[in-house]
Amino acid sequence: YIENNFQFILFGGTGDLAHNKIIPAFYNLAAKNILPPNYNLIATGRRYENQAEYLQALYNSLKAKKETIDDKIWQSLSDKIEYFNLSFTNDDDFIKLKKFLEDKSAAEKPSNRIFYLATAPGFFASLAQKLEKFNLLDVGFSKNKSRLVIEKPFGHDLESAQELNKNLTEIFSEKNIFRIDHYLGKEMIQDIMVIRLTNPIFRAIWNKNQIDNIQIYLNESEGVKDRGKYYDDAGVIKDMFQNHMLQVLSLITMEEPSELTAAEISQKKVAVFKELADNDLSNIDEHIVRGQYDSNIINEQEIKSYRDEDEIPADSETATFLALKLFLNNQRWQGVPIYLKSGKRLKEKEATIAIEFKSNFHNAYQNQQIENNLLLIKIQPDEGVSLRFNTRKPASNNKIIPVNMEFCQSCQQFFNSPENYEVLITDMLNGDKTLFTSWEEVSYSWKFIDKIQQKTTEKSIKLHQYPALSNGPEAAQQLLAADGRKWWD
Ligand code: BG6
Repeated sequence: YIENNFQFILFGGTGDLAHNKIIPAFYNLAAKNILPPNYNLIATGRRYENQAEYLQALYNSLKAKKETIDDKIWQSLSDKIEYFNLSFTNDDDFIKLKKFLEDKSAAEKPSNRIFYLATAPGFFASLAQKLEKFNLLDVGFSKNKSRLVIEKPFGHDLESAQELNKNLTEIFSEKNIFRIDHYLGKEMIQDIMVIRLTNPIFRAIWNKNQIDNIQIYLNESEGVKDRGKYYDDAGVIKDMFQNHMLQVLSLITMEEPSELTAAEISQKKVAVFKELADNDLSNIDEHIVRGQYDSNIINEQEIKSYRDEDEIPADSETATFLALKLFLNNQRWQGVPIYLKSGKRLKEKEATIAIEFKSNFHNAYQNQQIENNLLLIKIQPDEGVSLRFNTRKPASNNKIIPVNMEFCQSCQQFFNSPENYEVLITDMLNGDKTLFTSWEEVSYSWKFIDKIQQKTTEKSIKLHQYPALSNGPEAAQQLLAADGRKWWD
């Protein structure tokens, strides 16, 4: 529950994120009766003329997302939403916004305030500076109750991230900066630590002695849609690896935190990123596969190639697919290959963590073909856990067959996974930073990603074309086949 009244000031209130994630999350929170009686959701933007137009647009987006909208809930939410016409470059608008916050604060006595920057990243620093300059941070209470929420990308390399962070921390303390990685709000990502730490059957063997390899694949079937301009600069490495992929990897491989505080967990994650950044990437060319989707015809329909998408240069060399093999040189994981893969326009949307165990079988069974134990943590679209183990084929002469034990979270009747943003918004309003990324995490992950980028360029690593809605480049299959393994997707 969110107990305290708050002011939620959304910059980029008319953008995609507001329409598709933030407002729908607020609707769900209202439906679950989690919101306090008094709060204000002040959405700034310029696209709409007035409040009525804005609310209508929000309603339409919600309708496109949900089968049914409960009018009472929508009414209770829309009563709290205020559309505030504001241009980032017009100082007068900030003065007006301050006055607006003052009036609201006098009436509703919020106990904290969120400034949520769901804007293009180029505005993050200048907006924070304007909030300070026009004294919007301490209206009605002291400045340290104002929180800043920053969407990704946090910089586009280490240097720009450092610059951005410097600008933000001159205004907000680290405690009040919430850097979003929406993967941390996903149900099964939050489950990783529980699975690791509360099950002796996994906890005891979570290391190089018993684990053969780790795979994380975050496959997407969509293309770049209308984000060509951003994506062509970012590519899959900055869009998915620097943040979501490395976050998942760190939760799987970090040492056990001594307590479940945001600071302690973050420290353990940082240790993983530091090790990655220290990795010697001299033979990266043998461990990386870059790809870009080409056109394809599926069910007589042509799927565009990446280079034919809007705002993508016809000779773009941006990778929309990346597979990477790496190692962590610590006591727990030395020698265990970690295979990471993510790409757009792959056959199916599927995000999974696969932990394959070693083949420590009793001598008596050496002459049989026995499968390794396999633990799958399924992030999406199905949520759940699957464990493969061996059993005797009924009525056979001791023939061994693998069977699966399944926990399907998303199959449970009446269970509707909360959307990532519901969880994250609740936490930011309650001041809980566990599911947000610290500056150290961001900086070390950039250090690693910059190093990969640099080596990729130095070694002119090939860009494979792969047909849209396929399994990606054949070379990615080879990457594992060369080690006698295969991807589990
Ligand atoms: C975003 C990326 O951070 O994550 C997108 O910018 C990507 O390109 C998205 O599609 C994937 O998120 P999800 O929740 O759909 O797996």
